[in-house]
Amino acid sequence: MIYQPSELRYTSMPYKYCGKSGLKLPTISLGLWHNFGGVDVFGNSRAMLLRAFDLGITHFDLANNYGPPPGSAEETMGKVLKTDLKVFRDELVISSKAGYTMWDGPYGDWGSRKYLIASLDQSLKRMGLDYVDIFYHHRPDPNTPLEETMGALDHIVSSGKALYAGISNYKPDQASKAIKILNSLGTPCIIHQAKYNMFNRWIEDGLLKVLKENGMGCIVFSPLAQGLLTDKYLHGIPEGSRAAKSHGALKKKDITEDKLLKIEKLNKLAQKRNQSLAQLALSWTLRHEEVTSVLIGASRVEQINDAVELLKNPKLDENELNKIENILSESN
Ligand SMILES: NC(=O)c1ccc[n+]([C@@H]2O[C@H](COP(=O)([O-])OP(=O)(O)OC[C@H]3O[C@@H](n4cnc5c(N)ncnc54)[C@H](OP(=O)(O)O)[C@@H]3O)[C@@H](O)[C@H]2O)c1
Repeated sequence: MIYQPSELRYTSMPYKYCGKSGLKLPTISLGLWHNFGGVDVFGNSRAMLLRAFDLGITHFDLANNYGPPPGSAEETMGKVLKTDLKVFRDELVISSKAGYTMWDGPYGDWGSRKYLIASLDQSLKRMGLDYVDIFYHHRPDPNTPLEETMGALDHIVSSGKALYAGISNYKPDQASKAIKILNSLGTPCIIHQAKYNMFNRWIEDGLLKVLKENGMGCIVFSPLAQGLLTDKYLHGIPEGSRAAKSHGALKKKDITEDKLLKIEKLNKLAQKRNQSLAQLALSWTLRHEEVTSVLIGASRVEQINDAVELLKNPKLDENELNKIENILSESN
């Protein structure tokens, strides 16, 4: 069936400038790390992408290695672009990354110019695109000069294969150095992609400050700690959940008693606000002005619907934020 996007898609999603750049991102973005690979049901992946677009989610985040197998999430994106979304290319912000192991030998990993440029060419081919909107270096490389890695990002942007440059998983001091180099080359770094959720708050310790000082945006990933910050694991590990899958990155050992006790209390707090714990956890990440967008994952259309519903809830007030702090700091 020919896809016709909802005419209401731009009526409820807020869009925010990414730092001081001219690029706006939706409050909620969708990532294709899990559930869009060759091992997944294509019809479900396609349905999630189209539902997201119908809800005003204009930003889709990928990386060379998303799958499994690596590369297959970009192939899925390519297929959906070809059949449904290509005509809306100018309404989409598609990102990709390189920095983790992608192919055998010395040139398929980390941060060399050789790797980044070849990897982006491969990503573009898999997605059937001429350019991505944002290209990130996925993680810092301790053995390649930062000047080389940032030089590769600069080259990629000036060659037109990406419109904007970003970094991911860089600590505050590494980020400062990278931003400085990119600025000196005339290609500003507009965005940092960083893990942030109630159980992992490292960005509060210096990174947000660096981003603010440099007029950069922040997109936060794994806001639900891969599904842990929902009610799904309160009574065991459900079949089909990320923790139950052999290729899922959420490991059983991550689901500790201490976390479950906190999740139970947070769930009650969410219920008092008439919302799901997932919505509460997402709203909590969005309370920082530096956070441009929250990057969710999903395995079903309903999870995307649930996330977007948070836009109808009022923001967390001081009292609720204090209650969350207390729950998170309690030792059980
Ligand atoms: N830059 C990096 O290094 C990096 C690293 C990791 C991720 N990322 C990006 O961030 C994106 C999001 O990461 P993530 O998938 O870990 O995010 P997440 O939002 O923390 O976790 C998503 C998972 O939570 C579960 N879930 C979502 N909504 C739910 C709901 N309403 N109720 C119950 N369960 C729900 C689903 O798991 P089930 O499958 O169990 O249903 C879903 O797959 C990735 O796709 C990727 O684009 C970037």
